Amino acid sequence: MKTVALIVAAGKGERTGAALPKQYAAIGGRAMLAWSHAALSRHPMIDTVLVAIGAGQEALIAEALPDAAYITGGATRRESVAAGLAALAGADRILVHDAARPFLPAAVIDRLLAALDSHEGAVPVLPVADTLVRDDGETVPRESLHRVQTPQAFRYASLAEAHRRWTGGDATDDAQMVRALGGSVALVQGDAMLEKITWPGDIAAAEARLGMETRSALGSDVHRLADGERLWLGGVLIPHHQGLSGHSDADVALHAITDALLGTIAAGDIGMHFPPSDPQWRGAESGQFLRHALSLLRARGGRVTFVDLTLICEAPKIGPHREAIRARIAELLEVSADRISVKATTTERLGFTGRGEGIAAQAVVTAMLPGSAL
Ligand code: CTP
Ligand code: MG
Repeated sequence: MKTVALIVAAGKGERTGAALPKQYAAIGGRAMLAWSHAALSRHPMIDTVLVAIGAGQEALIAEALPDAAYITGGATRRESVAAGLAALAGADRILVHDAARPFLPAAVIDRLLAALDSHEGAVPVLPVADTLVRDDGETVPRESLHRVQTPQAFRYASLAEAHRRWTGGDATDDAQMVRALGGSVALVQGDAMLEKITWPGDIAAAEARLGMETRSALGSDVHRLADGERLWLGGVLIPHHQGLSGHSDADVALHAITDALLGTIAAGDIGMHFPPSDPQWRGAESGQFLRHALSLLRARGGRVTFVDLTLICEAPKIGPHREAIRARIAELLEVSADRISVKATTTERLGFTGRGEGIAAQAVVTAMLPGSAL
């Protein structure tokens, strides 16, 4: 049984009032479209995810989702779905989803697919909470009314036929087209997280719904001081009669920050991602380790909010280089330098740092991540 997902993202998002089509706007640290794409892609029952983009949006999707499969949609939502159906011929079941609904819980997908066992289609719905009134002042009973969301799931053949035979005007969803042919469409429980983004202010409201959580994690590292080495600290080359030795450039400060950053997403440590046994990291510039850790955090919708670094050494003096180190770390992490703290201490000539045998670094990285499991 082949199950495919189509995300329709070919609209202009005119009602948001912004120049950038809403599906490419940043929300919780990533493009709106990337959220539902990730949710559909990681669902175990979904084999393929296809995006219908607007003509001329190629550069936008390349930036938002470099690896996504896409086709060009049409002038209306219905035409965009039709283009997707044509490209996905051969599927048994299809989910059609609006890019404008970024937060898609896996449980909704489960409910929709389960309902397809007994129905041609299934849509997620929420109850109407407000009292409804017509222009003429008559109250409309709300008990039998539902707010319809996406994704909407269908047996592929039923939806394809509904699109082929549709003679009505522009349909705003696919379920009405399947019902027009007498197909049964189940109503399953939707989710408040799936609320659609339409108007100015909806993005801010969605981010609030997402709820960002704050996480802090610690990283530490030590490297040996040796003759004939260069001294890199925090991505800055420091003039000194000795340098740090190690497999890479041995930048103890960047290694500690990288480990802390990986800690915020519980993604193991630097040695796991860049094994010292791998010859390609010989002499490597440690900035790239930090950038990789940052990309992993960003892939989860997170961002770095603060770094507190402590360097532990007898020499060199860090003070004269503090601002350069702050600026370089800020540049690597794409944050302002006031979010980077660089401190230094000696160990009163005690221990290996006190004897000048090596330099130690400790870092705490604070990051904000989407709180829910979306
Ligand atoms: N859509 C589409 N092709 C179109 C029009 C809309 O794929 N020709 C998609 C939108 O990208 C969106 C979904 O259909 O994901 C629902 O449409 P809507 O919320 O109306 O989005 P827009 O049409 O982009 O917004 P607006 O109507 O405010 O311009
Ligand atoms: Mg529209």
